[in-house]
Amino acid sequence: MSLKNASAPGILASTLVVLFTACSKDSSAPSSADTTATNTPPVMVIKVPTGLDAPPIPADNPMTEAKVELGKMLYFDKRLSRDGTVSCATCHDPKMAWADHRATSEGVDKQLGDRNSPTVLNAAYMPEQFWDGRAASLEEQALGPIENPVEMGHTIDELVKNLAAVPEYQKRFREVFGTEVNKDGIVKAIAAFERTILTGNSPYDKYKAGDTSAMTAQQIRGMELFNGKGECATCHTPPTFSNGKYYNAGIGSDKPNPDPGRKKHTNKDADEGKFRVPHLRNVADTAPYFHDGSVATLAEAVRIMATGGIDNPRLSPVFKGLKEVQFTDEEIADLTAFLEALSGEYPIVEAPELP
Ligand code: HEC
Ligand code: HEC
Repeated sequence: MSLKNASAPGILASTLVVLFTACSKDSSAPSSADTTATNTPPVMVIKVPTGLDAPPIPADNPMTEAKVELGKMLYFDKRLSRDGTVSCATCHDPKMAWADHRATSEGVDKQLGDRNSPTVLNAAYMPEQFWDGRAASLEEQALGPIENPVEMGHTIDELVKNLAAVPEYQKRFREVFGTEVNKDGIVKAIAAFERTILTGNSPYDKYKAGDTSAMTAQQIRGMELFNGKGECATCHTPPTFSNGKYYNAGIGSDKPNPDPGRKKHTNKDADEGKFRVPHLRNVADTAPYFHDGSVATLAEAVRIMATGGIDNPRLSPVFKGLKEVQFTDEEIADLTAFLEALSGEYPIVEAPELP
């Protein structure tokens, strides 16, 4: 349960309303490229939380309210799985900070995957998706779980047929894309919805904006360690707290059959055991930790990072350096407290009524 956020349901509800209301003021949203439709729907302006810039929007998938609404339906629709038991929200549950609390996720036929389910919050900011970066966009990412045999176990062609049999979906695809139900529209709508699932305005952001009472003395000490001695910000770079790059921290390298990480995607030995730096906003709400979900508490995850990860032949040089630096228990607690200050508001979207 996300205690910090659950304590402020009013704020969350209003955040959500704003997210789905088009504002008229300026914006970094792209000008509408959709000249084919006769009455082009207004491009939706994303409400960007304090502390972050607007996420990039691909030119060929402009944001519209109707598209986001369709994407929301698909996100919650269990038709996306072969046997109708699993939706995106099963493993990325809005009420669990858009992740789940399992070490590795459970898909169709109760099959366990081998990686921890990352949060969808702020995924829009990441230049590449998945722990190993194998998808270049949210659009490309969305196909992955649908066709993954241990996640949704479906095929996109079958799914297109299933959805095309539902008049409500037929109508909405025609309205949003001017087409029949197709693969391109399915992934574009889901990606557009995900670009509204943002988090910010945390105690850290309020502190940065000048409210010096927003963080405790311990959190401020933790921030100094994070930026200084801990070198955490080298990889967990603000404002998203990820530089989007890949490093070997050795997590899982001491277990049988370690995950090859990015090597699985690039086939390069140098990428063995490398994973994308996770972004750390709301990290206090997304236990367990690391690509294999092997660590139950945030304090333990911080301790492993601060002591230079887990030794293996390809450990990244930054972690080797951290092995030379000593941290007291109090400093580990300070770093952990700082990460708790990164939990901000986020939308808790309820499942819409499905056709
Ligand atoms: C059975 C559980 C499961 C289901 C269902 C599922 N996911 Fe995931 N999702 C995961 C796991 C596990 C990963 C990480 C896999 C990896 O990196 O190899 C992931 C990764 C992602 C990422 C990348 C996040 C990042 O930081 O790189 C996004 C975005 C995402 N999923 C969205 C979706 C969407 C949209 C759907 C529905 C179409 C969906 N997921 C269905 C478990 C699931
Ligand atoms: C060299 C880059 C690098 C540095 C420096 C670094 N990290 Fe990480 N961090 C990573 C990578 C890569 C992972 C994912 C490792 C994995 O799952 O295999 C990670 C994972 C984490 C996680 C788990 C997040 C999650 O969602 O599972 C936390 C918490 C974390 N780091 C905190 C820190 C702290 C605190 C510091 C400073 C003491 C730090 N990191 C320094 C690269 C780095």
